Amino acid sequence: MQIIKSIEELRPIIRGWRREGLRVGLVPTMGYLHDGHKSLIVKAVSENDRVVVSDFVNPTQFGVGEDLASYPRDIERDAAICEEAGADLIFHPEPEEMYFADNCTFVDMDKLTKGLCGKTRPTHFRGVCTVVSKLFHIVTPDKAYFGQKDAQQLAVIRRMVRDLNFDIEIVGCPIVREADGLAMSSRNTYLSKEERIAALILHKSLMLGKGMAEQGERDAAKIKAAITCNIETEPLARVDYVEIVNPDTLEELEKIEGEALMATAVYIGKTRLIDNVI
Ligand code: PAJ
Repeated sequence: MQIIKSIEELRPIIRGWRREGLRVGLVPTMGYLHDGHKSLIVKAVSENDRVVVSDFVNPTQFGVGEDLASYPRDIERDAAICEEAGADLIFHPEPEEMYFADNCTFVDMDKLTKGLCGKTRPTHFRGVCTVVSKLFHIVTPDKAYFGQKDAQQLAVIRRMVRDLNFDIEIVGCPIVREADGLAMSSRNTYLSKEERIAALILHKSLMLGKGMAEQGERDAAKIKAAITCNIETEPLARVDYVEIVNPDTLEELEKIEGEALMATAVYIGKTRLIDNVI
């Protein structure tokens, strides 16, 4: 497995694969890989002839005062995980390789990026759409893999690919959880021992909401209220949002008919965690 840091070095490798008629899969990540990321890589390996994992902490998707500087990084550990999962190449550029100092082109989206995480992170999805578009142009994959963990991101990327006619199949992958239910996240490393226990309230509360829907409750407001109340029983937790939306359009639902995405963002101490269930 190779670690490539420059676009100039990467392009001929991809062209070579294309000439051989090989199918190329891409798994975009910000590194500090865990079993959630690994599940995406394993799926990509099973469906493609070559798999590229991008490992890049993308500055443009972090807002002012967010955790860009402190975001955990460990390329050697990441390389071992990628190798074990069967990836062929890690693309690990420096920020200067990805962005010209005078870069002034961005990919932005209305509507889907305004609610949920977009409310408190108004420039986040512009950064995600921009970097993912760049990665799509650089790697030119047949398929790209994204986790349901970031449900809004998955919906945004699907819409971007549709609206901008990228010839790429987007594959959504289920959330991988710790044995006790906490959704795996690189940001879980910020949690103290007490906060780690408190963080279980996200999944527990979402399961309560899901249970209500399964037992026939159709009023989204009632389910939202129950999830919110349950999260608030945890003293270390502060709710950012609890929303029930259409998983494709991310429009708020009043009545639950068919698929519904129940999503939450919660501060546990200073760490903001997200989780969701369908
Ligand atoms: P990152 O947070 O590193 O996540 C990379 C991919 O792994 C995303 O598609 C995310 O949804 C998925 N993922 C994370 N935790 C997961 C879990 N517990 N189960 C399943 N999948 C999980 O998301 C990003 O990076 C960035 O925004 C990126 C798309 C790379 C653009 O910079």
